[in-house]
Amino acid sequence: MASIKDVARLAGVSIGSVSNVINGKGSVKQSTRSAVEKAIAELDFKPNEVARNLKTNTTRIVALLLPNIHNSFFSKFAYYIEDELDKYDYKLMLCNSGGKPEKERNYLKMLQQQKVAGIVGITYNEIDHLLNTNIPMIGIDRDFGQKIMCVTSDNYHGGQLALEHLYAAGCRNVVYVGGQPPTESQIVKREDGFREAARVKGIVSHSLVRPDPLDFAHLTEEFMQLHADADGIFVSSDNLAAYMIERMKMYGIKVPEDLKVIGYDGVQDENYFHPILATIVQPVEEMARAIVQLLFQKIENPEMPSEIKRFPVVYRAGETI
Ligand code: RIB
Repeated sequence: MASIKDVARLAGVSIGSVSNVINGKGSVKQSTRSAVEKAIAELDFKPNEVARNLKTNTTRIVALLLPNIHNSFFSKFAYYIEDELDKYDYKLMLCNSGGKPEKERNYLKMLQQQKVAGIVGITYNEIDHLLNTNIPMIGIDRDFGQKIMCVTSDNYHGGQLALEHLYAAGCRNVVYVGGQPPTESQIVKREDGFREAARVKGIVSHSLVRPDPLDFAHLTEEFMQLHADADGIFVSSDNLAAYMIERMKMYGIKVPEDLKVIGYDGVQDENYFHPILATIVQPVEEMARAIVQLLFQKIENPEMPSEIKRFPVVYRAGETI
């Protein structure tokens, strides 16, 4: 099989020029383009990636299956996944499932026909039977019983940190408020770490957990009905925490004077939206870029063992505690 060097020699140009023509990058004179294309045709040259795609029968497209991109965490995730893929001339296909079972399943079926190079999935439903071993997949917060590689944050330690900071702020009657995915997920460890830390401190703690996707308004009303006497809450996402803080005003509850609030994710990059939410920060850029690297490793080595990779979280102080 002809190499890129053979093409460059025959065309009388540099290897870089041949690469630019193949990848559509950089400015290439028409005469150079014509000479390269003529040499590729004569030599029946197939650039490595084309040969690889033919071999693996895939494209240079990676699908990102997630619930929604209006959630700030997921949109940040999508940004960094795309940015990392682009470095290697891969493209992103965004699949917005709304967290709905049928949409998640339909997307996974469609992706098998699309010959995508890989899938990154934040999913909430029973899709185990649709995990196609021919398409490398990295799960976020889910490993499907160790069937696929999973990337998540250290949710348990995040829960412990949240309790420790609410306790240090004087809270003695605290509640974990969050969503419960219909299937197994690492995010339930946020509640576990929080409740265990409360037990160790010897303080009262409760959980208010409802099925994902959450109805924020209904959940906040339930919270007021069941836990109006709470003095601190740890909320499973920044988006839900921000919603609850705003909604508490309707009940005359001031944050942090009457109720202290800690979120989870760390999506608030700017310091001009107030109150600045005290939260547990997930290293979303580091996680997203690591996921892309893991996916490339899986593409090159399909036998790579599945494991859960946990990324450390940190507490970020704010005006809500
Ligand atoms: O905000 C969305 C949440 O769903 C994040 O905490 C992320 O971990 C996902 O589980």
